[in-house]
Amino acid sequence: MSILVTGGAGYIGSHTVILLIEAGYDIVIFDNFCNASKEAIKRVEKIVGHKIATFEGDVRNREDLTKVFKSHNIDAVIHFAGLKAVGESVENPLKYYDNNVNGTAVLCEVMAEYGCKSIVFSSSATVYGDPHTTPIVESFPLFATNPYGRTKLFVEEMLRDLYVSDNDWKIVLLRYFNPVGAHDLGIMGEDPNGIPNNLMPFIAQTAVGKRESLSIFGGDYDTPDGTGIRDYIHVMDLADGHVKALEIIKNLSEVMTINLGTGNGYSVLDMVKAFEKASGKKVPYKIVPRRAGDIAKCFADPSYAKEVLGWEAKRSIDEMCQDTWRWQSRNPDGYKNKGK
Ligand code: NAD
Ligand code: UD1
Repeated sequence: MSILVTGGAGYIGSHTVILLIEAGYDIVIFDNFCNASKEAIKRVEKIVGHKIATFEGDVRNREDLTKVFKSHNIDAVIHFAGLKAVGESVENPLKYYDNNVNGTAVLCEVMAEYGCKSIVFSSSATVYGDPHTTPIVESFPLFATNPYGRTKLFVEEMLRDLYVSDNDWKIVLLRYFNPVGAHDLGIMGEDPNGIPNNLMPFIAQTAVGKRESLSIFGGDYDTPDGTGIRDYIHVMDLADGHVKALEIIKNLSEVMTINLGTGNGYSVLDMVKAFEKASGKKVPYKIVPRRAGDIAKCFADPSYAKEVLGWEAKRSIDEMCQDTWRWQSRNPDGYKNKGK
């Protein structure tokens, strides 16, 4: 079975490609490398032991996509390609609507043209906005607090509309919680541009000496230690969720919407302590005012994923921190040649 992985050179995509190949799928990677390095693909090839068909192209570009569908018999698409920086989406919303929403629309059009109607889409827990309670169940009300989040909501709705228009579509919407960690060989991992926005890469860069100290956004939340609580999930567990989604996709008779989280909530201070333990390094921090748009608590009820996919996250926060540290300490400058 041939799977097209858009955004396959990115953080989650590259890790997922490894498990897909190990599960016996033929993989085609499609990426415009706007937020990825070709080195990431070389590292994946090193792990799996062979070359991977790779196309450089943009999901908004029909011709780029057509080249792939003409030359490969694609059975299903896992659609990771998208922009994901919340702050940038507030400053430049049209860039996000074009890339994430229009990009998905063009992709689906070309898929339909070639009779490929199975898609797994990367959604996010951000679609729950500020949830009224935790753990979060898939049926909770949906709300976006920024343009990035709205692109995820719009694409979810667009794909549901597509299914209503044509029941041959097989659609899985995976809502990720907070992906962290890295492949355990320490040669692949998350490689953010510039100063990391997200907690785990910031902690890792502080531990390795690239940043002076971590700013903890808010120490006065209504949580046991006053810092924000999230559901951190190991990227290899998340990757495994995609393999499981492909196993059921052919038999779907409705659009499936599934949380991929662990069900455990950890605070910022919990993560700092776990990282210090895993790395043996001190992570200096200071508590600063809350970051606009942040919420106190966000963690999944992952029971639906277990019920319908037979999937559950297995790796602990200690493994998430150990694997991140192995990657960060051996590759302090990430893939280096990011952006091409
Ligand atoms: P990433 O930036 O590492 O990967 C995205 C990849 O898509 C990159 O390789 C980028 O070059 C590529 N890309 C972007 N726009 C493209 C386009 N128009 N055409 C072709 N390729 C394009 O991000 P990631 O963390 O791996 O996230 C993957 C997906 O999961 C994204 O859709 C993201 O919104 C979603 N998601 C991520 C998180 C997270 O915390 N990392 C959480 C929830 C959802
Ligand atoms: C953020 C995005 C969310 C996106 C997700 C995955 C915001 C407001 N939300 O989620 O839309 O889907 O990333 O890309 O940007 N923290 C610090 N100091 C830091 C960084 C983070 O204290 O330097 C705290 C945050 O306040 C939060 C926790 O760490 O409590 C996790 O933050 P982060 O990794 O940015 O993820 P989210 O805010 O959950």
